[in-house]
Amino acid sequence: MSEIQLLQPPGEVVIPPQSIANIYRGAANMDLNAADADVFPPDDPWTLALAEALVQEAEAGRLDGKNILELGAGSGVNMLGLKALALNNFFRNPPSFTGLDITMESVRACDELAAAHGFADEIRLYQSNLLSDVPAEAIADTDIVFACLPQVRWDYEVMQREPQAREFADYYIVPEQEVPEDAYALGLLARALDQIRDKTPKASVLFNVAGRQGDKSFKLFTDRFDRAEPVVHRVIPHDPTTSLTSFVRWEQMSEESCRFYRDAEASQKIDAAEAEERRVEGVEVYHDLFVMKAEMG
Ligand SMILES: C[S@@+](CC[C@H](N)C(=O)[O-])C[C@H]1O[C@@H](n2cnc3c(N)ncnc32)[C@H](O)[C@@H]1O
Repeated sequence: MSEIQLLQPPGEVVIPPQSIANIYRGAANMDLNAADADVFPPDDPWTLALAEALVQEAEAGRLDGKNILELGAGSGVNMLGLKALALNNFFRNPPSFTGLDITMESVRACDELAAAHGFADEIRLYQSNLLSDVPAEAIADTDIVFACLPQVRWDYEVMQREPQAREFADYYIVPEQEVPEDAYALGLLARALDQIRDKTPKASVLFNVAGRQGDKSFKLFTDRFDRAEPVVHRVIPHDPTTSLTSFVRWEQMSEESCRFYRDAEASQKIDAAEAEERRVEGVEVYHDLFVMKAEMG
């Protein structure tokens, strides 16, 4: 398993200001050794945005003593970050951590990471597909659910094969029983939020959502929760390897328009059709990324 160094090794290593090591206090001294090719890279802008939201919540004391569930725990970077905060006495009473992921690769990565840092017996991990069912014991008594989940449909027509483990970080497979949000690729988030509402209604959520589907990205939360607001907002480059064909198809079928940008300043809006053309030509395109916080009551 290859190692990603989040600690400061000897020599002149400058940690970029946005890196995980700088977001989670104390993580600079902890090895994130689980980031092999099968799991999501821990310094991705999506991960950094979610980590920032979690630290904001921690600083406000809102994670103290809470039961936290991460849907799509990936490389375990957030699990490690929360542990780093706890080791640095950031909490009066550290939160508990449960992680869930569809791939065994991720569950194993999280388990090995926690074992390497001596806290494997403090966490709970589940391999489970959110598209079908989250085990009741994984979600019961949860106070806060956070997630950075795929928001692009796996396009069998274009791909002509099944996704590999790493690709579950970027795409989800639309089941036979579609929900309306599948039309614009927010179906996995919709199903996750519905299960949270049903199975642990008092929990608040912190979810990454890209604003590519415009107002529909917010409606996903405002339709289901009493209060919903973005707590982090970034404009980030679209991952150039992720195909936008399913967004283009949605635009054609619905006469709706996706929200991408030509520039990092978000001054020039373009639709998915133009974004996909630019992507194929190797030109950078951008989109919003929000961390939405939502709760009942
Ligand atoms: C974008 S990665 C995020 C990883 C990590 N949470 C982070 O922020 O760095 C999404 C994760 O969700 C998992 N995932 C994708 N589809 C899922 C599903 N249907 N059920 C459970 N987990 C899923 C993937 O395997 C992947 O680890």
